[in-house]
Amino acid sequence: MGQLDGKIAVITGSTRGLGLAIARLYAAEGAAVVVSSRTASAVEKTVAEFTDAGFRASGLACDIGDRAQVEALARHAIETFGCFDVWVNNAGLSSPYGPSFEISPDDFESTIDTNIRGTYYGSRVAMLHFLERGQGKLINLLGRGDSGPVPYQNGYASSKAWIKNFTRALAKEYRTYPRIGVFAFNPGLVDTDLLRRPQAIGGYEKKMAPLKTVIRLWADSPEVPAARALWLASPATDGKTGLVINVLGLRRITMGLIREVGRRLTGRGQPVSLDIRSVPSSRAM
Ligand SMILES: NC(=O)c1ccc[n+]([C@@H]2O[C@H](COP(=O)([O-])OP(=O)(O)OC[C@H]3O[C@@H](n4cnc5c(N)ncnc54)[C@H](OP(=O)(O)O)[C@@H]3O)[C@@H](O)[C@H]2O)c1
Repeated sequence: MGQLDGKIAVITGSTRGLGLAIARLYAAEGAAVVVSSRTASAVEKTVAEFTDAGFRASGLACDIGDRAQVEALARHAIETFGCFDVWVNNAGLSSPYGPSFEISPDDFESTIDTNIRGTYYGSRVAMLHFLERGQGKLINLLGRGDSGPVPYQNGYASSKAWIKNFTRALAKEYRTYPRIGVFAFNPGLVDTDLLRRPQAIGGYEKKMAPLKTVIRLWADSPEVPAARALWLASPATDGKTGLVINVLGLRRITMGLIREVGRRLTGRGQPVSLDIRSVPSSRAM
């Protein structure tokens, strides 16, 4: 018996990275999953992978920064599976690393559109559906910056702080519905494109060098935080709301340090590769 038998879950940004790992785990635990991202071919490929593996899956290309597309994604889930029980606002986007006004307004706005508007649109369609049914679980992804300012990653970091406050407020507003859970989830450091293939404003690449050490010490494969996302969606959280989960707690930080000492003592340890792509500064109006 799977932990999500009979459930239907929608996961945004689920064609790669953490979202794909969450979708795979949810499906393996018995859920029918709706996968999505902006790239139609990736959605098609992911759905094929799931159905070939014998899972119930469907998908729709959706840019979560576009309200009509998010509404269409919710309708698609309902038309395909009759309803949905879990909605994970996973899709997230970072801007190039650098000072706020050297980042082009287009890049800055893409981050805001995806992380803030996308989380708002996704939360709205999910909660309206859950309120109608009297049950459901909403999981919103946090990230670096959710607890304080992060210079040179201001768009991403401040959007995550917004998501945290927004999600906690939602949980309070709807806490009288005992079968609706609203959760905020920080997956820690996850070894995905977001971490390994960052962009930097020309001249700021060197400032990103410590990221290699940070990845070596604390990055997990996507399957690790996906297991926590499974717990949040599972019956273990029935009757709960307002949980704020952070995978990178004191225990994980200490474990990373101990492993690093072991690596240094034994001379083992893989060098971490980073694919930093430089983009020009955009100081001109
Ligand atoms: N990786 C980390 O260390 C880390 C740490 C803390 C928090 N997080 C959070 O975890 C979540 C997943 O991150 P990740 O590392 O898995 O990222 P990722 O590897 O870059 O994957 C992002 C996924 O979201 C999709 N996506 C991006 N923008 C979208 C949009 N506007 N609309 C719909 N789909 C979109 C991407 O596909 P397309 O490009 O094809 O649309 C892709 O499937 C994000 O919310 C991120 O902020 C990650």
